[in-house]
Amino acid sequence: MPLVPPYIEALRPYEAGRTAESVRRQYGLSRVAKLASNENPLGASPRAVEAIRRSLAGLHLYPNGGLDLREALARRFSLKLENVIAGSGSEGIMSNIVRAFLCDDDEVLTTEAAFIGFQVLARSRGVKYRTVPYRDWHYDLPALAGQINSHTKLIYLANPNNPTGTIFTRQQFDDFYRHVPERVLIILDEAYFEYAKDNPQYPDSLHYRYDNVITLRTFSKVYGLAGVRIGYGFAHEELIRNLLKVKLPFEPSTPAQAAGIAALSDDEFLAHSLELNSRGIGQLSSGLQEIGVRVVPSQANFVMIVLPAEREACRIFEELLAQGVVVRPLKAFGLPNCLRISTGTDEDNSLCIEAFRRSYAGIAGTNSIR
Ligand SMILES: Cc1ncc(COP(=O)(O)O)c(C=O)c1O
Repeated sequence: MPLVPPYIEALRPYEAGRTAESVRRQYGLSRVAKLASNENPLGASPRAVEAIRRSLAGLHLYPNGGLDLREALARRFSLKLENVIAGSGSEGIMSNIVRAFLCDDDEVLTTEAAFIGFQVLARSRGVKYRTVPYRDWHYDLPALAGQINSHTKLIYLANPNNPTGTIFTRQQFDDFYRHVPERVLIILDEAYFEYAKDNPQYPDSLHYRYDNVITLRTFSKVYGLAGVRIGYGFAHEELIRNLLKVKLPFEPSTPAQAAGIAALSDDEFLAHSLELNSRGIGQLSSGLQEIGVRVVPSQANFVMIVLPAEREACRIFEELLAQGVVVRPLKAFGLPNCLRISTGTDEDNSLCIEAFRRSYAGIAGTNSIR
């Protein structure tokens, strides 16, 4: 008699990407470009690192549940404290949303091959998980709206989306929102917000303070704090009040909270990171396209490439690895013929393009399918 419910038995444990060190050792390489996890190639915000150092004096004390960071975020975004939550990464908050709002008969609705973290969290709750296909690698919002039924409780939208890097526009979101009943909760996952915010078509969800929309953001990406686990969310105070009931009382940790507060004021690091990223997106997109690789236009800090089939994706992944370039295969997301490549330093990006040039030669010209 299994001790776990069937929906837990059916889950596959998260497979973390290879570390640069293990790849370096396996292939005896002097240099490895880790472009697999959408991390910041510049490292962490220096202000955040300094704040973590200062916070160490208080490690023996329990944290205050993120209150200081919530206050800082409320000031920064002109919101009330009651509209803000902080947690152990945006995934930490996502897990609280799943716990607080989903009941057994509820259904979750999202796109095919959605961010793997959300897929796992929703499936671990044992509720029905329904998806609609992408339309040209974008969320098909009209199709999603058409799939809402009386059991639909939660709709998950990542904008920009991981793994495709695409966005939906203000107009598209407005049209979609008109079809969503008030009893349905929408998660707007804006983990890559900073990379897209200057696009005039991008719907910054702070301008959509609807009662059934929860915005999630993170310090993991542009602020380089993925290892610290610090993220935040905005929502109607009723939603936040209920999320605070299920949140672990002492998350986020003291250093994580200090890092988040300091990162918020690190405009110089933000600007530098965005500048490097936009150069990287240009470099990777044009460099790979020149070789004949199909690249999906991206608004985030990574690009997705589409290969003819899983066989080619596996072969290229392995060949890149042997040349010291670690990218992300997307089979676990549900896209076995695709790979995702995060932007790195200028040198990392060049290394990646050169490695591709050597590996891709055999399949150039065959890449005409979706
Ligand atoms: C769309 C999306 N949401 C959330 C996350 C997780 O962010 P965090 O590190 O804040 O948990 C990621 C990380 O890859 C992501 O791509």
